[in-house]
Amino acid sequence: MHLISVTNNNEMSQKAATIISTLVTQKPNAVLGLATGGTPEKTYKALVMDHQQNGTSYSKIHTVNLDEYVGINPQDSNSYHSYMYHHFFKYIDIPANQTHLPDGEHASVDYCASYDQLIESLGGVDLQLLGIGRNGHIGFNEPGTPLTIGTHVVKLTPSTRQANARYFTDLSKVPDQAITMGIGTILKSRKIILIASGKDKAEAVRRLLDCSAPDDDFPASALVAHPDVTIIADEQALSLT
Ligand code: GLP
Repeated sequence: MHLISVTNNNEMSQKAATIISTLVTQKPNAVLGLATGGTPEKTYKALVMDHQQNGTSYSKIHTVNLDEYVGINPQDSNSYHSYMYHHFFKYIDIPANQTHLPDGEHASVDYCASYDQLIESLGGVDLQLLGIGRNGHIGFNEPGTPLTIGTHVVKLTPSTRQANARYFTDLSKVPDQAITMGIGTILKSRKIILIASGKDKAEAVRRLLDCSAPDDDFPASALVAHPDVTIIADEQALSLT
């Protein structure tokens, strides 16, 4: 794992955006694996600026997102479909049928397998952007998830529901299940960038950087087995290392 340490969230976002836009320029039909949450918001903002100022085009790009809540309509303002549209897709020239997210209204085993098949049919993910949960979850792969499985339905832990409650009117409105790419799916990506910002992530980043072998109790540890992982973390996220 390669670490890029930066001063703050702005610098982290700019670095991640530069890596992504460089790939999009070099490979205009690349497949981007995208993440949601607070951490990537400014990365998307920087990519939108780059699209507007430098004309980086997404007209042949496909995107596949990591996860979506179960039982939430894609039009719901709290869905990850809405997040991606409002933070990124509506500002760039990507055709809607080239943006793919798990459908939270089809949480079946067959549907999950079809999401993995879709990724394979696109030629696999060239670059996967990841955040990290405080308990080390990536996507919605909670501690205890086998590190080899594909897309599946998960029950969210109380701490993850609590962490995401800030986007809902109250905790009871946060879904208790999600569909997520599995760690096995994520590890098939050719390149992975994990971004982390703020002191809330310091313990998770410390554990990740200390990892020498994959461990089910800390899902992000699976990344040590991948040959091309870059972690971009700011001073606060690195404050316990
Ligand atoms: C969420 C998402 C993850 C994200 C993580 C951290 O639950 N499913 O993909 O990386 O938690 O989120 P944030 O960036 O808001 O801290």
